[in-house]
Amino acid sequence: MLSESFISELKARNDIEEVISSYVNVKRRGRNLVGLCPFHSEKTPSFTVYPDSQSFYCFGCGAGGDVVTFVKKIENLDYIEAVKSLAQRAGLAMPEDGYDDSYAKLKTRVLEINRETARFYHQCLISPVGKKALEYLRGRGLSDNTIRRFGLGFAPESWDAVIKHLRGKGFTFDEMAAAAVAVKSARGSYYDQFRGRVIFPIIDIRGNVIAFGGRLMDGQGPKYLNSPDTPVFKKSRNLFALNYAKSSKESALILAEGYMDVVALHQAGFTNAVATLGTALTAEQARMISQYAAEVVIAYDSDGAGQKATNRAINIFGEIGLPVRVLKVQDAKDPDEFIKKFGATRFKMLLEGAGSAMEFEIAKLRAKYDLDSPDGKVGFLKEFAGFMAGIRNPIERDVYVTKTAQELGVAKDPLLVQINYIIRQRAKSDEKKKARDLSVFASGPNERRDPQRMSNLKEALAEERLIGILLKNPDYHGDILGKIRPEDFVTDFNREIFSVISDRLGQNRSVELIALSEQLSEEQMAKVAQVLADSASTRATRKEAMDYVETILAGKNRKSAAEVQQMDREALKDYVAQMAKRKKENIR
Ligand code: GTP
Ligand code: MN
Repeated sequence: MLSESFISELKARNDIEEVISSYVNVKRRGRNLVGLCPFHSEKTPSFTVYPDSQSFYCFGCGAGGDVVTFVKKIENLDYIEAVKSLAQRAGLAMPEDGYDDSYAKLKTRVLEINRETARFYHQCLISPVGKKALEYLRGRGLSDNTIRRFGLGFAPESWDAVIKHLRGKGFTFDEMAAAAVAVKSARGSYYDQFRGRVIFPIIDIRGNVIAFGGRLMDGQGPKYLNSPDTPVFKKSRNLFALNYAKSSKESALILAEGYMDVVALHQAGFTNAVATLGTALTAEQARMISQYAAEVVIAYDSDGAGQKATNRAINIFGEIGLPVRVLKVQDAKDPDEFIKKFGATRFKMLLEGAGSAMEFEIAKLRAKYDLDSPDGKVGFLKEFAGFMAGIRNPIERDVYVTKTAQELGVAKDPLLVQINYIIRQRAKSDEKKKARDLSVFASGPNERRDPQRMSNLKEALAEERLIGILLKNPDYHGDILGKIRPEDFVTDFNREIFSVISDRLGQNRSVELIALSEQLSEEQMAKVAQVLADSASTRATRKEAMDYVETILAGKNRKSAAEVQQMDREALKDYVAQMAKRKKENIR
């Protein structure tokens, strides 16, 4: 087995978009890329690449998976050969023995240390030693409930408070240093990384404490101190509070600059807020955001640095194709201060008034052309027409067309004619696509892969959605597995996938697509890619997951009732005995 860190490095260095582009001619369509499928013959493209989830799926033949699956299929390699080829492509050395067990163990220890450390800091905060820190946080308007929800803490003003505590729990100095809660000095002794700071634990989407941010209340030193990268933490690949925001009902995520902004936003009811971890936004973080949101609202600080960072973030989201709105915090430094000064209702108004993606896109389009030259004008109007054709609402369309025509000093009517023409053309090709999708549904890859699917469609769909939710919300697995086991799944095909995923989660291993491809068959990977394609940029609450669980269980029970009626005497006897035994063991 390959180590998780190797697999995640492999993924980071082999962007699926780049790899596939070198084999297939794909064109951008919104956030995704489409092209003619290399795995079956077709005239209209149904092969889609999803950069958000780093997956591909063909609606025609049902081929799908991650970057490794793609290379396997197209080069006709086995799993390990495909991994080797990708490693080589990225200039990455293959691990010597293939499986680095000690590193996996260290990661587990580091996670345990982090959890214990978070608990310790929180205890300190609510005990006498943290009196000042607690007053500080309350003074900044945080309720005890919020403090508990975010697990905020206090690192005492001491060189060895957390070290002593962790020693008592049996952790070694080396492990503490690996977790970066302790630092090794030049003299070889160890001391606490965080001293006299308010602590913000950083929790990933699996529910693991992976790092800490510490804020100084007063005195010397940097205002915020963040954990450096560790075996379980990469700043550039995580977002603060995504563990909560991913279950919010809003279709947008709010991106703020600081921890305090996010905590204040959540407390005020904006539970869809996240922040980067003391660094500028990375493409990877932007992609994570687009996996959970149909749109992002940037709510950075109102100062010059914040505005600069906004521009940079806009470009990054632009490359990914995620619609952006920009919220302008007025008469306050940042969202936290704004909410404190003016309240949540006023912030909601800011949010609603945030410059639309449309205005923003038009401004960006305009900047691309030299509107003083006739050629520039024509070029712009062409692209603008195509862009406007994408707006469904004719009134909204008219508003932008009128405004832009006026600003450019051109007649509006020919522009509208052009736009309507594009709309008609697109509708025609959409019709075709719809017809194709329908035929796919009737006798598609799903049925070939999974013959039980059609006769148990309701349960199969619930199973698929549950798998999708679990992949995007690995932290739900405790709740979900408390209610449903792989045995309960109605279709064999989905059961196997679910079983692999739940096993991995039970061992706290990654369930990213690229990690799954090691264990899942090609058919199964294709299904997983399909499930992810269906659930792109949607989020789900635990409640929804539980609804699907109910559907599956109900389907299973209904089925077994029907089966019981079909049983002969002998089988029925066995069945009754089995049920009695189950009851005794207290299994459902
Ligand atoms: P408050 O002053 O507590 O309201 O913090 P803030 O969240 O408003 O912080 P600020 O706008 O100053 O900074 C935004 C984010 O940048 C913080 O949440 C940190 O993640 C990061 N940051 C701020 N100061 C430092 C620093 O001194 N060092 C590092 N590494 N990161 C910092
Ligand atoms: Mn602030």
